[in-house]
Amino acid sequence: MTNISLSERKLLLYSILTLAVGLSASPATAKVSGVCGNCHTMHNSQDGTAVLHSGAGWADDGTFSSGEASETPVGYLLIADCVGCHSSTSADKTIIQLGDNRIPIVFNTGAYPSKALAGGNFYNVSRGETYDGYGHNVYGISEHDSKLMTAPGNNRCGNANSCHNTLAVAPTAQNDYRGSCQGCHYNVYHHQDNDRYRFLNSHDEQFGAYVQGVEHASWEYPDDTTLTDHNFYKGVDRDNIGQGGTLELKQTQGISSYCAGCHNTFHSIEGIGTDTWLRHPTDIVLPEEGEYAQYNPVTNYETQSPVAWINPATPQRDEAIVMCLSCHRVHGSEHPDILRWDYSEMVANQPNGEGCFVCHTTKD
Ligand code: HEC
Ligand code: HEC
Ligand code: HEC
Ligand code: HEC
Ligand code: HEC
Ligand code: HEC
Repeated sequence: MTNISLSERKLLLYSILTLAVGLSASPATAKVSGVCGNCHTMHNSQDGTAVLHSGAGWADDGTFSSGEASETPVGYLLIADCVGCHSSTSADKTIIQLGDNRIPIVFNTGAYPSKALAGGNFYNVSRGETYDGYGHNVYGISEHDSKLMTAPGNNRCGNANSCHNTLAVAPTAQNDYRGSCQGCHYNVYHHQDNDRYRFLNSHDEQFGAYVQGVEHASWEYPDDTTLTDHNFYKGVDRDNIGQGGTLELKQTQGISSYCAGCHNTFHSIEGIGTDTWLRHPTDIVLPEEGEYAQYNPVTNYETQSPVAWINPATPQRDEAIVMCLSCHRVHGSEHPDILRWDYSEMVANQPNGEGCFVCHTTKD
């Protein structure tokens, strides 16, 4: 934060790159292409053996032979379940080429990949109880969290096996036959380009409860991420939308309201009207004064402490929003509480320029 010439250089780079952003990022394009048989199996049988594999999908060389062959077909006649097609036995590959498509890998079974995508990676949370806090525990990857019997902050109850309480149980009527990945990616749209950011929606999608944003074309694969080319998430300024009902908040299509679907009370704005907060605020504008003046995410965006935007297509400094993903990843990370950085390294009086210090620049 003290290196002025670096930020000047970044600003210059920013002006050069703004032109490119329209080309490399788009509202939401997820439409697959290519031979049907790459992804579908009509009878789950070829030469008399099962085609479907579940768990641990793609090997290093791009073959799909790992995981367990399964006689039981899955919905949409796919060659794999969600976990299977989006995982890899290779330690480090996080994008696998399949015909014309690139498959974003969210679970590497060998190690935490050095180039994890924006959501992080499920590797750690697959390693057993000690690592339960390093990710969302989802069915097909990990057992039920040993400590958390519900989503912390959930005040909407739901039955014991609902997604608000656990994502680690098999699909049943109690989780709308979803659970696991689809507890969060409730409706998926592989054959459509629509405005659902990363298929993030819910059982209230028909009422407008889904997330919007501008998607980075390579899911923030580190080699392809630049100062201006990254995900842009939608956020809202809760001061301006009033207290509203739950549905009204969901209809803002913000990323933090989405997390609030299961972690509702963590998204409260308790504290407004007093001079202190009762929980770390989200969905408030990142002030332009005081210690926050030094972080201008329009010209100096930090993927380690990102912000959302009131309008993700036209990011403005006075519309930068603190969000849940400012501190957390979502799938899994290398740190407890799915944080983006090691919280134990955030030490007042010993600034390291990372994590909390990106915004709280005077707590050094
Ligand atoms: C046969 C392989 C396959 C299966 C099975 C599969 N996917 Fe995908 N998925 C893909 C490919 C390929 C893409 C990349 C599409 C693109 O280029 O944006 C993708 C993209 C995604 C994305 C990112 C969308 C975006 O906006 O970039 C999500 C989220 C996702 N899949 C979730 C799921 C879920 C949940 C399931 C289970 C219902 C599932 N997938 C099953 C192949 C698969
Ligand atoms: C790269 C992988 C991939 C390829 C190639 C692919 N599909 Fe799919 N398809 C999926 C996935 C994943 C789903 C899961 C549900 C969803 O997202 O709609 C799906 C869902 C479907 C569905 C049900 C949902 C809908 O949108 O109607 C149909 C029908 C379908 N595919 C037909 C086809 C046909 C026909 C082809 C070839 C012309 C094809 N698919 C090629 C991955 C693929
Ligand atoms: C569909 C419900 C659901 C949604 C949506 C959801 N979560 Fe969770 N979350 C859970 C459940 C259930 C747990 C407790 C079990 C576990 O750790 O998986 C949890 C646990 C967590 C934990 C603690 C992990 C641990 O084990 O200590 C964090 C941090 C977290 N969620 C953050 C988020 C963020 C950030 C978002 C939005 C990007 C989000 N969650 C969206 C259901 C959800
Ligand atoms: C707790 C909710 C939650 C669960 C459970 C979850 N996802 Fe996601 N997923 C998200 C969010 C939020 C994003 C957007 C991350 C971002 O852009 O920072 C995302 C992004 C993705 C992407 C795009 C790649 C990336 O890292 O941005 C894929 C592919 C995907 N998810 C697939 C899956 C699959 C497969 C599973 C199950 C193994 C799964 N997700 C489970 C919430 C979830
Ligand atoms: C300013 C950074 C920051 C923001 C923003 C943030 N969190 Fe956290 N979160 C943390 C830290 C740090 C922890 C570790 C425990 C603690 O200090 O409270 C944590 C812990 C958690 C836990 C685990 C609680 C438990 O009992 O184990 C959940 C769940 C969670 N956060 C969800 C959210 C959700 C949902 C949002 C958005 C509404 C959010 N967080 C916004 C930093 C943040
Ligand atoms: C993306 C920017 C951002 C990050 C990252 C961030 N904060 Fe904050 N934090 C804020 C903003 C903005 C406020 C509210 C400021 C205001 O009310 O004017 C705030 C408020 C707080 C408060 C409450 C202050 C009060 O007056 O009640 C504490 C304590 C705090 N943050 C600690 C942390 C810690 C610890 C971390 C790292 C785990 C962290 N923050 C990370 C932006 C951030």
